[in-house]
Amino acid sequence: MVLRIHALPTQLINQIAAGEVVERPASVVKELVENSLDAGAQRVQIDVEQGGIKLIRITDDGSGIEKDDLSLALSRHATSKLQALEDLERIASMGFRGEALPAIASVSRLSLASRAAGSGQAWELATEAAEVRPAALSRGTVVTVCDLFYNTPARRKFLRKDKTEFSHLEQVVKRLALVRYDVTFVLNHNGREVFCANRASDRSSHERRLSDLLGPAFLQEALYFEHEAAGLSLSGWVARPAFSRSQADMQHFYVNQRMVRDKLVSHAVRQAYQDVLFHGRHPAYVLFLGLSPALVDVNVHPTKHEVRFRESRLVHDFLFRTLHQVLAEPATEAFSEEPTEPLAVPTGMAEPSAVPRQADMPLRVAERREAYRASQEWQAPPRGTPTDTAAAMPQLADQAPGEEHPLGFAIAQLHGVYVLAQNRQGLVLVDMHAAHERITYEAFKRAREGEGIKSQPLLVPVSVAVSQREADLVERHGDLFAELGMEVDRLGDQSLVVRALPALLRQADAERLLRDVLADLVVHGSSRRILEQINEVLGTMACHGSVRANRRLGIEEMNALLRDIERTERSGQCNHGRPTWTQLDMQALDKLFLRGR
Ligand SMILES: Nc1ncnc2c1ncn2[C@@H]1O[C@H](COP(=O)(O)OP(=O)(O)O)[C@@H](O)[C@H]1O
Ligand SMILES: [Mg+2]
Repeated sequence: MVLRIHALPTQLINQIAAGEVVERPASVVKELVENSLDAGAQRVQIDVEQGGIKLIRITDDGSGIEKDDLSLALSRHATSKLQALEDLERIASMGFRGEALPAIASVSRLSLASRAAGSGQAWELATEAAEVRPAALSRGTVVTVCDLFYNTPARRKFLRKDKTEFSHLEQVVKRLALVRYDVTFVLNHNGREVFCANRASDRSSHERRLSDLLGPAFLQEALYFEHEAAGLSLSGWVARPAFSRSQADMQHFYVNQRMVRDKLVSHAVRQAYQDVLFHGRHPAYVLFLGLSPALVDVNVHPTKHEVRFRESRLVHDFLFRTLHQVLAEPATEAFSEEPTEPLAVPTGMAEPSAVPRQADMPLRVAERREAYRASQEWQAPPRGTPTDTAAAMPQLADQAPGEEHPLGFAIAQLHGVYVLAQNRQGLVLVDMHAAHERITYEAFKRAREGEGIKSQPLLVPVSVAVSQREADLVERHGDLFAELGMEVDRLGDQSLVVRALPALLRQADAERLLRDVLADLVVHGSSRRILEQINEVLGTMACHGSVRANRRLGIEEMNALLRDIERTERSGQCNHGRPTWTQLDMQALDKLFLRGR
């Protein structure tokens, strides 16, 4: 038997359409509030009962609807926002498909009351009533939606508890409030005010709203920026990586004020955070992308959560570059900050006894700073300075007869392992790794005996997967880690997070350092034993702070190392007992060449 074809009744068509745009109370609220915003409302009040399942009422002070248009507003494909196809290419309103009201009306008991601007009377049309009736309303529009899905039990079954539905709904209102600062939003649930965000006109009131909606912690860690290029603009707040979240629940991205969830966008953002965010964490942001409506297609999906950029490559690069730069800036700031106490300089190093110098007081202060800076340079990544022998020579020539630098001045680096220096006696050969290790070790010991080992928070905490036993150890020996200048917390059964490193080791690989210290802990067992063996642990740590073989050093870095060796006690050998430097004086060299002097 052949089934006959027949046209579907309007109500059924609308109910099918409702399947696309009306998933739950939250989607009703999104559509209705967007209508209010399109009508130019400055205040939108949302009253909800039982998570929105029982009642949703949206009251706005927008331009309203003419009496004769009320029934059109409830008909499918009727809209005031679009005339022709060209309009779709540059759509500036939230809506344009003309399907939300009829769809919602087909799955609920809906009433639409409105007073058009300039009209002396308000009118109301309800789905249950046959005709338009006068209503009492001084301005704007009130849409009331009762008993959502009452006539579509299959859909109603998918609704969750009131509380869950309400939290989705609240999220929608928040997301709209985050982008439309120029509008007051009031949300009431079961007669109680959930939030009221007043219109904000300047940035500080924006930020107050932001802090109310996302929490003060976000704002504290967020960087505000604005950037424009190539006809695109991006502005908003991005949280520093330290504020990363375990869920992607604080990601608000708007394209021309429309919130979107877009793969291209999240990919670009993710990439911008890539080297600063550790695995499994999610960034937090509120970002506004602005571009010509002609360059973005919002008509991809009925809910308009997805968009299509006409020049996707351009948009991707713009997002990535802008955010990458914004995120890089605080890092530079954080690293260029000089601690009040120059930590990298062992105490007493600038004493006249250690460094013979005809120094007066101010000079010593300057020298400390200089030395600190030099050691900073030493720890900074190689800048590719060519090993320029000539640069070292004038300094040598300038030297006072008393020779203040016993180890002389660097002239070259050999095979990435040795520093060659020239002093009065001849040639000095320095094993750079061993020497640096020694210096760091002595600095640690001195710090521990003095004010304690200072720690420096990591810009990006590092999570490390470990065994349960190791995680237990860290939990038990928290004090010990603090004493070592490290901050390590347990994240889970088998995972730890390193939040701070000793300031002396700020450049070290946090994970490897942690693993090595853990290895020492496992060997020594109790924390008393480990205190007895603390120097061994400090030695382990010092090894991490020191420069690795094959790292190319600039002349200043090498000289800074030589100065540090001179100032450090027991610097003649590393803490593994190997010598750190040796002198080949001219006589020895002459002998090599059978050269009589
Ligand atoms: N709160 C409101 N204030 C003024 N006009 C409204 C409001 N809500 C709906 N309308 C009118 O009803 C029409 C249909 O709304 P809707 O079904 O959501 O479709 P769309 O928003 O896509 O145009 C809108 O184009 C608008 O003219
Ligand atoms: Mg609409």
